[in-house]
This record gives sequence, C-alpha cells and structure tokens, in this order.
Amino acid sequence: MKDLQNKAIEVLNNNWKDGFSVPCANLYPFQWFWDSGFIAIGFAHFDMPKAEKEIETLLDSQWNNGFLPHIIFHTDTDTYFPGPDFHRSDLSSQSSKKHKSTGMTQPPVTGFVLQDMYRISTDKKATLKFIESVIDKVYFNHEYFYNNRDPKNEGLAYIYHNWESGTDNSPIWDDIWQTMNPPKYTFERRDTTHVDASQRPSNREYDHYLYIIDIAKEHHYKDAKIAELSPFLVQDPLFNSMLIKSNQSLIDLYQLIGGHDDKISQLQNWQGKAIKSFNDKLFDKELGVYVHYDLRNEKPLRYISSSSFSPLFANIPNKEQAVSLVNVMMEKFGNDNQYLCASFDPTSERFNPKKYWRGPVWVNLNWILYYGLKNYGYLDIAKRVKADTIEIIEKAGFYEYFDSRKEVYKNGTAGYGGNDFSWSAALLIDLLQDN
Ligand code: GLC
Repeated sequence: MKDLQNKAIEVLNNNWKDGFSVPCANLYPFQWFWDSGFIAIGFAHFDMPKAEKEIETLLDSQWNNGFLPHIIFHTDTDTYFPGPDFHRSDLSSQSSKKHKSTGMTQPPVTGFVLQDMYRISTDKKATLKFIESVIDKVYFNHEYFYNNRDPKNEGLAYIYHNWESGTDNSPIWDDIWQTMNPPKYTFERRDTTHVDASQRPSNREYDHYLYIIDIAKEHHYKDAKIAELSPFLVQDPLFNSMLIKSNQSLIDLYQLIGGHDDKISQLQNWQGKAIKSFNDKLFDKELGVYVHYDLRNEKPLRYISSSSFSPLFANIPNKEQAVSLVNVMMEKFGNDNQYLCASFDPTSERFNPKKYWRGPVWVNLNWILYYGLKNYGYLDIAKRVKADTIEIIEKAGFYEYFDSRKEVYKNGTAGYGGNDFSWSAALLIDLLQDN
C-alpha cells in the first residue's frame, strides 16, 4: 500500500502546474472545477499549502454574479477542443476579466471540500483561518445557484449542459439528444488524438454539445435566457447532492468560525426546501432510486446510474429509501463478476463498460458512495467499494475510468481514458487513510 500511495503522490505532484492542477497531461490541460476540489482533498494529506492554493486559484476565477466556471483556461494551448475561443466567456457581462473560462459550471463540491480539508488537517487552527478567508466566495456561489438556476423556486438547481453534470457522456442524455436536431459542425476533435475514439463520444454527439453552447453564447450566457431557451435543462441528483452536501458543510464551518447568523439561517432555508423537493421529485418509487428530471420536457429520465445513489453522501434519503438504494445497487451493480460501482445500470441495453460514463467505474463516484454508505451504516458494502477501488487501481494503474467487469483484468487493458489521472490518485490517498 505504501508504494501505491507514493505513486499517487507522484501523480499529483506531476500534475501540479504552479497554482493549480491539471486532471491529467495532454487530454485535459487546464483547471477543471470539481477535479480541483477532489485534488485538494488528496493534497491535504501531504501538502496543505498546495491544497489551499488549488482552491484559491479556483475561486479566483469567480464571476461577478458568484458563478464558478467548469474549465479555467490558464494557458493558451490549442491541444484541447473546444477551447477559450469557442466558449468566449467574455460575451458575458458577469465574467471574470482576469481568467478566460467556459460559461458553464460543474458539480459544486467546494463547500464539502473545505470541510474535508479541515477533517484531514493536523493544524486545525491554521486550516480554519484559511477557510475563513475563502468561505464567503463559496457561499456566494451557492447564492448564485439558488437565485439563478431555480426558476420555479423548488430548491433544486438545474444544469443546462451535459458537461455541467460531470457525468458528461451518460446514456441518460440520449433521451435529450432525441429531442434535438443540431446543425452539423465542422471542427477538429483533439480528445481522440490522445485517447482511443471507441472510449469517447461520437462527432454527432459533439454537435449537440456545441449547439447548446452556441445558444447560451447568443444570449451572452444570461441565465434567464438559458432557462427559457436551452434544449437541455435538467435537475440532476448528483449535482444537487453535491450542492446539498456543501450547504451542510458551509453551515458547520460557519458555526465553527462563529458569527454569520444570517448566512447560516439562509443556508438552512435552502437546505430544508432542497431536501424536501429532492425527495418529492427525484425519488422514483417504482425503480427504488433517485433519477434525473428533464425540466425542459417536463418528465423524469427513468434510468439508474451511479448518480442515483449519490444522495446517500448528502444525507438526503430516509432510512427506508436508503434500504431501497442499497438493494438496487447490490442487485444490479454488485454481483461477484463486477467491481462496484459501474457508472450506468449494467442490466440496461445502453450499458457500455468501456465508454466514457456509459458504464465504467469512476474513482470520484466510488469515493462519494464510500462515504455515503458509511454514513448510513452500510459498513460492509462501503468496505467493498473501498477494496474494489484499490484493486482496480493496483491492477490497471491510475486511469481516468475502469472496466467494471472483473474478467477483463486478467488479460488486456482495463483502465481507460487519460492515465496518471489526478482525482484517481487524490481520492485513493484519502481512502487509504480512512478506516
Ligand atoms: C471529463 C469528465 C469530467 C471531468 C473532466 C476533467 O470531461 O466527464 O467530469 O471533470 O473530464 O477530468
């Protein structure tokens, strides 16, 4: 285990670029929002100054309205498509004048990341001081979501692009692509020069992605216009679980810091409403799990994915719902031939164990599920998620995503996407420390 941990530390140090980390070399050459959060948790175990800097740099990209972008383009490399010239964050009157970025966001992990840094810290006083210096920016980011991403005032934030979900190529989005007919774009893919095309989305799928961005750009990334016009408008259980978990962390941290009563009571208001709507609207009684809701076409997207179980991490389900989630997880995802936890229902015909979010195991989702299961007292299953995560990394390497089928590990490659991937390393370090 020591060797694996040292290798993980090496991966993180190599991906550190003086102020922030790249998710991995070549494929992802900039700073990504939720990656940075997970990376900071890894660094916190052995280099707290880097963890703090990672978060500071991320928050430094904040827009005037509290928004945090999903990619911050710190360099001018043209090895990534679509880059800053396509996204054109400058079209928004709210965007940062300092950093070029995308005009979309990612799962808001920053609140709970700060609390994890505090949990891990061996100098709590100093870490709390750091948290005090940045926490208002995270609060402002939550305020942005509730004021701009919740048109019906339900306490649930929408996402307007599949890249905001973090689970970029999930089969769930196929239903939405069927409602769209975007123009055919001429562009040069860069991802497929770094990674086997069979593990990445198709060109036609990219047409959809680019078209949604074009609509947002046409309206200068104004949220009200996006809510009115974007063909993609979804309430995502993973995204909202991250927001709800982070709300609770902000409450806990403000209480530790002292004062800030107005913010605490505002956070508690958001939280009460969010958890109620989440359970009323996103829990599918027949399937026994949480599902996505398509706000544009007003219908639930009734598919089971690893996101369906993520509310365990944020204390959202009641006891009975938790039992149901765990039963479904073990029945469909947890047989002995499979590593936990595939990113998409292995019993579905849309399942593909090799393709980007259409089936492979991801370390960040496993980390979320590990703590979620522990939270609800499912210690044995949590242990299995941890052991499976360690085993796939030991066998295949620090990949971006992993085949869920055990047999594939005997011969051939079972790790896919980018290699020496930061969050796989960072969260492994955290899992190895936790008992
Ligand atoms: C992929 C993932 C996304 C991640 C990014 C950088 O696009 O889908 O969740 O943030 O890579 O690692």
